[in-house]
Amino acid sequence: MIMQNAERPIGIFDSGLGGLSVLRTALRMLPEEWFLYYGDIANAPYGTKTEEQVYTFARAVTGRLMDQGIKALVIACNTATAAAAAQLRAEFPDFIIVGMEPALKLAHDQCPEGRILVLATPVSLASEKYRRLYENYGEHAVSLPCPGLMEFVERGDTDSEELKDYLRNKFAPYLETPLAAVVLGCTHYVFLKKTMQSLLPQNTLVLDGNEGTVRQLGRRLESAGLLLNQAMGTEKYSLSFHIDRNEPEIIARAERLMAIPE
Ligand code: DGL
Repeated sequence: MIMQNAERPIGIFDSGLGGLSVLRTALRMLPEEWFLYYGDIANAPYGTKTEEQVYTFARAVTGRLMDQGIKALVIACNTATAAAAAQLRAEFPDFIIVGMEPALKLAHDQCPEGRILVLATPVSLASEKYRRLYENYGEHAVSLPCPGLMEFVERGDTDSEELKDYLRNKFAPYLETPLAAVVLGCTHYVFLKKTMQSLLPQNTLVLDGNEGTVRQLGRRLESAGLLLNQAMGTEKYSLSFHIDRNEPEIIARAERLMAIPE
């Protein structure tokens, strides 16, 4: 079958299951489109590797998705965006590559005077990209690396006591003075939003960049004439993973995460 340009799927990837939180938002905001999701589980976590390693993983996944004929790529991972997006865009200048960054600007716009806590991986927070973001919007922000947190989501755990203990320990030093917002600067953490809200003071905003990323994807597709205005088939997405473990079990876990309401 020969597909017209706009009829081709959109590739979307992460180190594992976290980017499914972006896919979930994309399915709601761009309901006509068709997505190929790839989770690089064999190389996860990205957030505690080096930037060079993350670039190598991201480059391999990009090649793989491009070979499947995608019309655009969403890097549904803050870590891979920080480590690889600039270089990938330089290598593929004519290709639409949409990335992510912790929603610190959004938090700063919504609470210009309030204290903001940015949760993200060590690689994201140590990156040059984040340094620039922090320089512009980090006046009242504290950056909090969370190694080990994505692993809960990978196991399908979004509300256990062990997870709550991890989060309580992270939040404790910052709850003595009022906190205006918590930024979920890793796509995995978006699945933990409700659990985090239950542990934070009631008025704390919990923000992420998923909608902004999907809006940007829509704008880029539209200006390239690649936005579909009617669905081409009934299949909305397909999931595949780089793993040596039991794939049906991972797919079932992925579907359970996707079913958590936004
Ligand atoms: N989901 C990824 C992110 O948005 C990172 C998880 C990992 O450490 O692999 O940063």
